[in-house]
Amino acid sequence: MKALNIYNPVKIHFGAGLIGETGKIAKKYSDTALIVTGKNSMQKTGTLDKLVKILKDAGVAPIIFDGITPNPTTYEIDSAAGIARGKGIGLIIGLGGGSPLDSAKAVAVAAKGNIPVWDYLKTTAKEALPVITIVSTSGTGSEVNRYSVMTNTETGEKPGFGYECMYPKEAVIDPEIMLSMPANVTAATGFDVFVHIFEAFTGKAKNAFSSAYCMQAFYLLKDNLIKAYNEPDNIEPRGNMALASALAGLAIDISGVGIMHAMEHPVSGNYSNVAHGAGLAALALESMKYNLNACKKDFMLIAHHFGIKRAGKSDDEYAGSLIEKTKEMLSALNLNIRLKDLGVEKDKLRKIAKEAFDTMGFAIQNNPAEAGENEVLKLLENSY
Ligand code: NZQ
Ligand code: MN
Repeated sequence: MKALNIYNPVKIHFGAGLIGETGKIAKKYSDTALIVTGKNSMQKTGTLDKLVKILKDAGVAPIIFDGITPNPTTYEIDSAAGIARGKGIGLIIGLGGGSPLDSAKAVAVAAKGNIPVWDYLKTTAKEALPVITIVSTSGTGSEVNRYSVMTNTETGEKPGFGYECMYPKEAVIDPEIMLSMPANVTAATGFDVFVHIFEAFTGKAKNAFSSAYCMQAFYLLKDNLIKAYNEPDNIEPRGNMALASALAGLAIDISGVGIMHAMEHPVSGNYSNVAHGAGLAALALESMKYNLNACKKDFMLIAHHFGIKRAGKSDDEYAGSLIEKTKEMLSALNLNIRLKDLGVEKDKLRKIAKEAFDTMGFAIQNNPAEAGENEVLKLLENSY
């Protein structure tokens, strides 16, 4: 029997309108906060202004860093960390999707030290400023896990890292903030949740705890992702997808991700206009085919929970029906895409395959089916 160590210290607040509690929560940690956010959405929706007022009313002085781009860069993170250090900030608040939240955690680490954030890939970070996450997408699970993903724009590398000190102290999950997500963001981030469930549930590091999170996340996702996409103003499916995102985020915190993530990170690392979930969509079907034989029972179990009828199908056919169902889901989300549709150049596939190993090797190790660089290259070619 495998030994297990399970740990997640994030205090989770879930509910419509709960952003209003952030002042009280923040005040427990500091009188000063750096808000780390993106360049557009939180300004346009008024959420950033609202947060500033909430913090000021609670006696917390906010400074805004709104320079985070989707697929954030080390440059952006180091710039924000410099501000936090220079101003003696006591708390980092990430506001937005996975990109600002990941950045907030990286800023919290980098602000404590005097080295560029990239160096924390080699050096273990032991301390970080406290972080509060206020999530605006339902996708990465960054709101509740310790991971941060950053891009080195000089090389295109996009590794993930995560140390114990990087867990957010508290996560505010307010589905009202998600109502403004445009359809393509709802689709891409929602499909990311599906892949987290799939990879944590089938990976070599799967266990009873992560599988429990995966199953509940999956139940929520199967009934709510397409609904959230088709009914953007309906808070119910938004709330259920927010729960699915957090549950799947807890699952990957425990059991990690697999080959789809290993390949996607260098895709959106080299092509920063590619949304992480869209990159996954282009890679998912071929990767599922590749993994089918290594974890057929898991495929069948997910197919069963999807409500797919067995009706005389052989094991292979039934397991394969999950791939068909996934294809249908991608079509319903307008995400039936290939790498070439995302602007990826064919002659870059070898570089992407190499970086999948160099920067996300642990995810390939965790994948149910073994893969070497040639197999990964083949998967990329088949997904092109
Ligand atoms: O540009 P801004 O103003 O930030 O607007 C964003 C962005 O353009 C917009 N948006 C977000 N919430 C919105 C909204 N627009 C309207 N209303 C809202 N409520 O959507 C765009 C995408 O946002 P982004 O934060 O980039 O997306 P996502 O949440 O998918 O995060 C992606 C990043 O997270 C990493 C990815 O690699 C990528 O860098 N990941 C982090 C993980 C983790 N921490 O565990 C795991 C994941 O597998 C993933 O790798
Ligand atoms: Mn992901």
